[in-house]
Amino acid sequence: ATNRTFTMIKPDGVENGHIGAILEKITASGFRIVAMKFTQMTKADAEAFYAVHNERPFFGELVEFMTRGPIVAAILEKENAVADFRTLIGATNPADAAEGTIRALYATSMGENAVHGSDSDENAAIEGAFHFSGREMF
Ligand code: CMP
Repeated sequence: ATNRTFTMIKPDGVENGHIGAILEKITASGFRIVAMKFTQMTKADAEAFYAVHNERPFFGELVEFMTRGPIVAAILEKENAVADFRTLIGATNPADAAEGTIRALYATSMGENAVHGSDSDENAAIEGAFHFSGREMF
């Protein structure tokens, strides 16, 4: 069925000049943009968004990284959006990401991995609602 996922081009992807190339790959892969903005997360935003990881050893580093500069946040729609987007971005660690995936092409490291993709329909809805109001979704 047609469903939605949530993505962010993370601060490293923005800093390294990859916004255009990443959006081109996303739209060329059949995703429709439902919502999109250029924004920066505060520390409180990142701590809330990544609350599920707050016991992990890398949590502080993750919050520091995700707040250090602007991101592109977007909601995307397609048949099987969550799973297909995770295939398009590749494994969390770019060293393990399949050839041609967004992380293989544009990520720096496990922590600075260029893009986020929701891991379930439920989290896609939660994460999309974190960044966008109903009137920002089209
Ligand atoms: P993502 O899956 O988008 O959201 C959680 C993030 O935590 C993940 O991307 C990585 O950027 C980061 N992360 C996961 N594992 C590690 C790790 N071992 N060290 C540093 N960062 C990590």
